[in-house]
Amino acid sequence: MSARELPGPGRGERVADFFDGRLGIHSLGRKYLRKVFPDHWSFLLGEICLYSFVVLILTGVYLTFFFHPSMNEVTYHGSYLPLNGVRMSEAYASTLDISFDVRGGLLMRQLHHWAALVFVAGMLTHMMRHFFTGSFRKPREINWLFGWSLLFLGLFEGLFGYSLPDDLLSGTGLRFVNGALLSVPIVGTYLSMFLFGGEFPGHDIVARFYSLHILVIPGIMAALVVAHVLLVVYHKHTQFAGPGRTERNVVGAPFMPVYLAKAGGFFFLVFGALTLMAAVASINPVWSYGPYRADQVSTGAQPDWYLGFAEGLVRVMPGWEITLWGHTLVLGVLIPVVIFPLLLVFIGVYPFLEARVTGDKSEHHLLDRPRNRPVRTGIGAAWISLYLILLAGGGNDIVATRLHLSINTVTWAIRVAALVVPLIVFDVTRRVCLGLQLQDRERVLHGRETGLIKRLPHGEYVEVHQPLDQAALHTLTAHERPGRLVEHEPRSDQ
Ligand code: HEM
Ligand code: HEM
Repeated sequence: MSARELPGPGRGERVADFFDGRLGIHSLGRKYLRKVFPDHWSFLLGEICLYSFVVLILTGVYLTFFFHPSMNEVTYHGSYLPLNGVRMSEAYASTLDISFDVRGGLLMRQLHHWAALVFVAGMLTHMMRHFFTGSFRKPREINWLFGWSLLFLGLFEGLFGYSLPDDLLSGTGLRFVNGALLSVPIVGTYLSMFLFGGEFPGHDIVARFYSLHILVIPGIMAALVVAHVLLVVYHKHTQFAGPGRTERNVVGAPFMPVYLAKAGGFFFLVFGALTLMAAVASINPVWSYGPYRADQVSTGAQPDWYLGFAEGLVRVMPGWEITLWGHTLVLGVLIPVVIFPLLLVFIGVYPFLEARVTGDKSEHHLLDRPRNRPVRTGIGAAWISLYLILLAGGGNDIVATRLHLSINTVTWAIRVAALVVPLIVFDVTRRVCLGLQLQDRERVLHGRETGLIKRLPHGEYVEVHQPLDQAALHTLTAHERPGRLVEHEPRSDQ
């Protein structure tokens, strides 16, 4: 065939050439489309965070088309008749319009709110899975900090978000924020005046939170998400021990096409599940709370679940006050305001604390089974128990009314529990881990119990044990052994 008869490159090839020449996508694709992803259900938690974040951005943008971040007073004449003729802020009126008069508005609002709740829940569980399996160890400490910053910003993003509609519940939350600021010694009043642009509640707070909510914080979060995921690609995934898995390789399916197909499907599953929740389950029905008025507080006011522990700290703290050099220090609020960030900071700096205490400076790419790290697992379980107890404290009025108890009894129970339960949980978890380690040891040395009883020639009855296969043996023994587990048993490997 002569050169003149050779078919030229097709249109697809020409388009690909055009982009490859300018963006170098061929070499990028060749390198990263084959990236290997290990398979484990817990890796889906990070994806739940990612996809709910995408849903938040999509629905948030839709809401910005109709939401008016203004505290100017208007008289409501929309479709929700019980509030007809009531004076309210433009922010609240536009939220009512989104809920009753904008096509798909209520669905979008509810989808945004449900996605926010799932987003933070996803982040907390994703974080705890990394905590319990030790994936935060060198070289991933910085990525842990990126993730932790996402969680920290996510909590405030949520608070700013549910403060925007300027309803009675969100106003009550803002009053709480104002109280916390006022408790700060010396500069408290200035901080409050600065944030609210004058005496609480002022006229500026919704517009200020709006800029933070739709621009500043999502911008920082989006950059952090990109950096977080890029670092996962750079470090490569950690994986659980198993046959063929070492500190130097990653065993799993390639990004293209297996992981991409799975991840794409999972995105639509998350999106679908959130939309279903938004379609059938009401969330934050602001019309039934009414507009915010500084002289009113509704009963049973609760923040969104992820800030319940901060509210709990304030509610269960005794109302101590002391006067120093003519200044009143409201310790009943100030102490919780200090403990709230400390609780979060502790978990943020934990990788560095652990490395310092254990002296472990080596790289780790194989994950720990939580039972093989009893102290860390105990600390994680204790931290979760404290978080949950304080969460219950944040709803002490609801607990008291639902269970027909005195609110003082509930408050005292939570005070005691917050001090005692985490210690008990730590100890019990540590012991359970040690017990499970011994169980593993039994299985490795003597095999799996089959439930079959055999009678020996001399009359003794014994249970038949089946040796584990090589893969199970490898999985159970492929971990570092930090020290002796049981004092009175001599170590067989010494
Ligand atoms: C991590 C990200 C985000 C979280 C956790 C979050 C959370 C929230 C929450 C809980 C609300 C109250 C919803 C309600 O009325 O019941 C809200 C309102 C709102 N959010 Fe977001 N949001 C996020 C990102 C965004 C983004 C990226 C935008 C815009 C680009 C946005 C725009 C809005 C608007 C306009 C409102 C007020 C409308 C309304 O409440 O009906 N949000 N947000
Ligand atoms: C917007 C929030 C977040 C998103 C979208 C996100 C997303 C992801 C994804 C997709 C992965 C890879 C899959 C996996 O191992 O689960 C990952 C890994 C990781 N995440 Fe997150 N994450 C977020 C928040 C957090 C938080 C709050 C922490 C902890 C404080 C955290 C710590 C980590 C660590 C240490 C890894 C590396 C694990 C490894 O290499 O195996 N992330 N993240």
